[in-house]
Amino acid sequence: MQGQANTPWDTRLNSSARALKGSAIRELLKITEQPGVISFAGGLPAPACFPAEEIALATERVLAHEATRVLQYGPTEGFPPLREFLAALMATRGIEAPTERILISSGSQQALDMIAKVMIDPGDVVLVEDPTYVGALQAFRPYQPRFVALPMDEHGLQVDTLEAMLADLAAGGIAPKFLYTVPTFQNPTGVTLTRARRAALLELAERYDLPIVEDDPYGELRYSGEPLPPLAALDIARHGQPRHVLYLSTFSKLLAPSLRVGWMVGPDELLHKLALVKQGMDLHTGSLVQAIAFESCRDGLLERHTPRIRAVYHERRDAMLAALAREMPADIRWTTPEGGMFLWLTVPDELNVRALLERAIARQVAFVPGDAFFANGGGANSLRLNFSHPSAERIAEGVARLAAAIER
Ligand SMILES: Cc1ncc(COP(=O)(O)O)c(C=O)c1O
Repeated sequence: MQGQANTPWDTRLNSSARALKGSAIRELLKITEQPGVISFAGGLPAPACFPAEEIALATERVLAHEATRVLQYGPTEGFPPLREFLAALMATRGIEAPTERILISSGSQQALDMIAKVMIDPGDVVLVEDPTYVGALQAFRPYQPRFVALPMDEHGLQVDTLEAMLADLAAGGIAPKFLYTVPTFQNPTGVTLTRARRAALLELAERYDLPIVEDDPYGELRYSGEPLPPLAALDIARHGQPRHVLYLSTFSKLLAPSLRVGWMVGPDELLHKLALVKQGMDLHTGSLVQAIAFESCRDGLLERHTPRIRAVYHERRDAMLAALAREMPADIRWTTPEGGMFLWLTVPDELNVRALLERAIARQVAFVPGDAFFANGGGANSLRLNFSHPSAERIAEGVARLAAAIER
């Protein structure tokens, strides 16, 4: 679409659209699609992990038996049998919620936009992890919040620093709209909030009446360590129902991202407002994909399939950790994720990561520069590596190429 002269639309864009910039990751993905490039850049599930046959059979059954229902407009809150199924699934994660407290979204990404739409006025403080999921920043930015970014370490969000920040903000008469967190196998760092910090975070939420958006696409993908309760489970255990935590999850990493089916569990009144804004966005998430997701899962697909995904990614994570230990110079550090799809590298300050990316691409290996994930700048000495998509052999080769590109 190059070379078109300005149209009347360009000068009439609103202030947030004028400020929009393309994401570094999307630009990168174009390069990484070239054959021969080993890409640690994307956040893609392994194609071998798609339950394609089960989805094909489920699609056939749905269209054979329920065509008139699933081809028709449906309720905004979601396809009723899927909501019921998800209420039961949530109980297995320790999140006890009746069907009415499940709201389906078109992927978690839409949930982030819906939340921003009902919560953020221009200038409002939104607390985020530093670094955080870049898609959340993209979803929130058009609503013009002021991001206050909170440091992380290998145990997740630094809850003490959050406490100091909340006290500072309160002293200035500011109550943040919410904290956005990915506490389990975070994108981009792979780190997980410890049990003690989870409890401390809930205490803080109580003390400051702080709403928390808990984004949990990866929680089921654990390869080592002991399972931890979602923040939402702790919140419900304390209050008997959701109070501080709005919980988000998705089928993207368990079935297939193209289905675009995610869901939320949260306080009733908030869910009601979210459903109202969703009506204006897309009326409802496609009934056909929701029915396919339900039909695929109703006979226990997740129980059979999730262990297969875990086995594949477990091997790939270990391959990446082993290759890093083998290949990387002594002054490069990395996280050791217990699950998820990503790992985070920190390099010495004098190593320019953008220039490193150019050298890496010349050697046919790609990653995402870490600065893309920082709300207010910083992170110039970090990078994100994905280990779910390339095979273990490609991971070993890619890490060797990356180490060669780092060689000073
Ligand atoms: C932390 C996080 N939240 C949300 C999403 C978006 O997920 P969905 O495909 O459900 O929209 C992703 C996708 O990678 C993610 O990493």
